[in-house]
Amino acid sequence: MSSQESHPQVRTVESTQSEMTEIILPNDTNMLGNLLGGRLMHFIDLTGAMAAYRHARTHVVTAAMDHIDFIQPVRLGDLVTLKSSVNRAFTSSMEVGVKVWAENTRTGAVSHVASAYMVFVAVDEHGRLEKVPQLKPETPDEVRRFDDALRRREHREREHARRKKAQIETAGLKSDGAIGL
Ligand SMILES: CC(C)(COP(=O)(O)OP(=O)(O)OC[C@H]1O[C@@H](n2cnc3c(N)ncnc32)[C@H](O)[C@@H]1OP(=O)(O)O)[C@@H](O)C(=O)NCCC(=O)NCCS
Repeated sequence: MSSQESHPQVRTVESTQSEMTEIILPNDTNMLGNLLGGRLMHFIDLTGAMAAYRHARTHVVTAAMDHIDFIQPVRLGDLVTLKSSVNRAFTSSMEVGVKVWAENTRTGAVSHVASAYMVFVAVDEHGRLEKVPQLKPETPDEVRRFDDALRRREHREREHARRKKAQIETAGLKSDGAIGL
């Protein structure tokens, strides 16, 4: 394989698609026999990272898990399947979508239980930012996710700027002695 083939400038969404299935054991659940939210977030992080690795083909770190919906509880003994793919690549960052289903092993019923958006950043072995290939959406769904990912990035940037401004204002008030927390 030429280096151009192993490090193309553009990748397809399909080439990033990843999947993981886990069986939910007693260690994964709370006292009601439901999967712990933190455990599910761990599975989401791992599956999201798989798609990001397949896109970047270098080290990736989780920068943000910015939206997660827990739609239905997952029960002890269920099979949980997570699927991920890159929605859009920017310069060094990628937005990845992860969707989660639970399967009741006795009835075979499958339900959508959670969805999440995450941002991974590509870095080298010294933690320095690395540029990632661009992503080429091909199907109408991929194009919709590609467009939505840009809107979410703009929203994240506005939120980041708002929080930073609030922190500066709070720090100013504290140094005036106006608030003593
Ligand atoms: C993520 C990280 C590498 C970004 O480094 P940085 O020096 O702040 O980088 P920059 O501000 O120049 O941003 C670099 C890219 O990351 C993105 N980014 C940084 N922080 C982000 C955040 N909180 N959410 C979404 N994207 C973020 C930027 O948008 C930018 O994307 P682009 O290159 O595609 O335009 C750094 O903050 C880090 O190492 N964080 C800890 C990661 C980690 O340990 N994760 C596991 C948590 S347990």
